[in-house]
Amino acid sequence: MTLAIMSALLDEQRGLLEQLGNPQRVKRAGRTFWCGQWCGHEVVLVLTKVGKVAAATTTTTLIEAFGVDRVVFTGVAGGVGAGVKVGDVVVADAFIQHDMDSSPLFARYEIPLYGCATMACDVTLTALLLEASRNGLAGVGSHFHRETPLSPPNVHSGLIASGDKFLASAQEVTQVLDGLRSAGHDALAVEMEGAAVAQVCRDYGVPFAAVRTISDRADDAAHMDFSGFVTQVASPYALAIVSQFVKTLS
Ligand code: ADE
Repeated sequence: MTLAIMSALLDEQRGLLEQLGNPQRVKRAGRTFWCGQWCGHEVVLVLTKVGKVAAATTTTTLIEAFGVDRVVFTGVAGGVGAGVKVGDVVVADAFIQHDMDSSPLFARYEIPLYGCATMACDVTLTALLLEASRNGLAGVGSHFHRETPLSPPNVHSGLIASGDKFLASAQEVTQVLDGLRSAGHDALAVEMEGAAVAQVCRDYGVPFAAVRTISDRADDAAHMDFSGFVTQVASPYALAIVSQFVKTLS
């Protein structure tokens, strides 16, 4: 079996790449795929690039050209659920596209011709990732964001909303959340790729799980020190979680 580990940003991927045994670089579809071994598993590491279309191309290539049969995504997200703080971690149980709207032809958020709005993650892989997040982060020690120590990360599990928009104001977030809530969906976090990866994995019947570290609250300060957060917090968290995850994977 071959496991794909996808990340959105180079900094997040760097620490993972250092763990790869016998790394082989393969270029395809304008992306760099790193094939190797980790804890006895065949692994392919790749950057998705940003946004749903880029993530869909990357996922399709992973499955069609590299034959991966399990996909895990690690990255950052804006926290929008009550109590989801910067430095916390969200493991997705399902994804929705907050910018999908083919109404009045289809219900708001419904993915046309799929008959549903949400795409569930694989239950077994997600349970492993949740456990790996709890156990892996137990030993990460203290991290700082804008010179303030972060409280120990809480690990949440729930719905993540994806869309081709970096949300960076309270007004935008309220609009997105109110719309989702009125259709019965409560999102914990927002990002720009996960729902596309989930959809492609579902098309091919490939199990998928995703974890995101909360880098911001999708408010006016969302863009501040974004790269600093990725380097200092999200990258070590991703390494701690994925290291634990590959150890427990059968
Ligand atoms: N990824 C990290 N923060 C985000 C935000 N505020 N909006 C969309 N994607 C994000």
